[in-house]
Amino acid sequence: MYPATQIDLFQGWPAISMLPVDRLKQATSAALSDETIFATGLEYGPNEGHLPMRKNIAKWLTEFYETSHPIDADRVCTTGGASQNLACVLQVFTDPGQTKMIWLVEPTYHLGFRTFEDAGFMDRLRGIPEDEDGLDVAALELALEAFEQDNPITSDTVYKAERPHGKIYKHVIYCVPSFSNPSGKTMPRARREELVRVARRFDALVVADDVYDFLSWGTALGSQNSTLPRLVDIDRVLDGGPHDRFGNVLSNGSFSKLIGPGCRVGWAEGTPSFIHGLSEAGSTRSGGAPSQLMSTFVNEMLEDNFLPEYVSQWLVSEGRRRHLLLASAIKAHLGPFGVTFSPDPETSALAGGYYIWIRLPDTLTSTQVCEGALKNQNLVLGSGETFAVPGGNSAAGELHRRLRLCFMWEDEGRLVEGVERLGLVIQDILGNHLSD
Ligand SMILES: Cc1ncc(COP(=O)(O)O)c(C=O)c1O
Repeated sequence: MYPATQIDLFQGWPAISMLPVDRLKQATSAALSDETIFATGLEYGPNEGHLPMRKNIAKWLTEFYETSHPIDADRVCTTGGASQNLACVLQVFTDPGQTKMIWLVEPTYHLGFRTFEDAGFMDRLRGIPEDEDGLDVAALELALEAFEQDNPITSDTVYKAERPHGKIYKHVIYCVPSFSNPSGKTMPRARREELVRVARRFDALVVADDVYDFLSWGTALGSQNSTLPRLVDIDRVLDGGPHDRFGNVLSNGSFSKLIGPGCRVGWAEGTPSFIHGLSEAGSTRSGGAPSQLMSTFVNEMLEDNFLPEYVSQWLVSEGRRRHLLLASAIKAHLGPFGVTFSPDPETSALAGGYYIWIRLPDTLTSTQVCEGALKNQNLVLGSGETFAVPGGNSAAGELHRRLRLCFMWEDEGRLVEGVERLGLVIQDILGNHLSD
């Protein structure tokens, strides 16, 4: 019988039951009851964003990453979330005439493609595969070398005005270093250092979506205190520090996975010159940083340390429990068909984020499974090809056997039921194969 209720294991949103709505209500009321706060929140704000929130974010980042140098507020600006900020970064720091290519970890966060295309990089996106340690930096370096050998000269065409607050990078590298979307992979420290060196060598800007970093939990093998430095932390100190005042890494942070994506608030961290340049984007100069009012609400949740404690004590336990639950359901119901997955909370050194990345047996394709799931079981799944880089992708063959499952959206009973339904779909397809 066709199940009346749809289960969605694709959607990468926080569950409605997880949203900290009561605390947000208090924060909103407190901010709107204090004229010194609401007058700031409701008027045009500074280009870099609401200073009290920037200071509190800088403090949280310094403590969480245990950085060798304190992070000052001038390294941080407010954004409208990671997606909005990617568009601003490309506006200020790339020029389709001067920036040659966009290199993306593959599989990659698929909703970023349009932003690169909108910035003038249609047909100039290239996928670089992952290995066990995330983005394969050696493959990236080889691809960059080959590309530069074939295209040594930068075109004379310039689309953007020269601005003292910005620079135009020759390449952009996009990745999600911790708990990547969709693969859940995390780059170890040595790999991160290699990436920063490659970026410096090729005058590339690395845009690191660090949106899952706080959602990190220990596993049977790892300890919970295994926080890795971000690429932006490495760029700050590696081999004597950045090559110029802009550096080569931008950390893109977001409250979407921590409070709720409708907040549309995030932050960016880079060198003070980079952050100043970013906040001089035309659309920011006219009106001030995005999400100014919402920033005053979020800041109320930072002032008394509610948010860092809520994330580390509550959200992380919730994520760990959901991850374990989904993983054990996969082992029980899909393991017998030869399905494997990562990260496995029992064998990975580090786990976190929102997703489990499934490998189907060779007899199945993800398209077949996703179509069968929707048609016969009212079940929505993330098909591997969704995360292939348009045009020049390097891992497309492998992605035909992959599925992304999110463990943060559906409530717990439905996570297990979703996997049971997926087991029925696979059984059905394999049964039809046998009877062919
Ligand atoms: C890697 C990555 N970057 C960016 C986003 C979107 O972030 P925001 O809501 O802050 O725009 C997501 C959301 O799923 C994501 O997974």
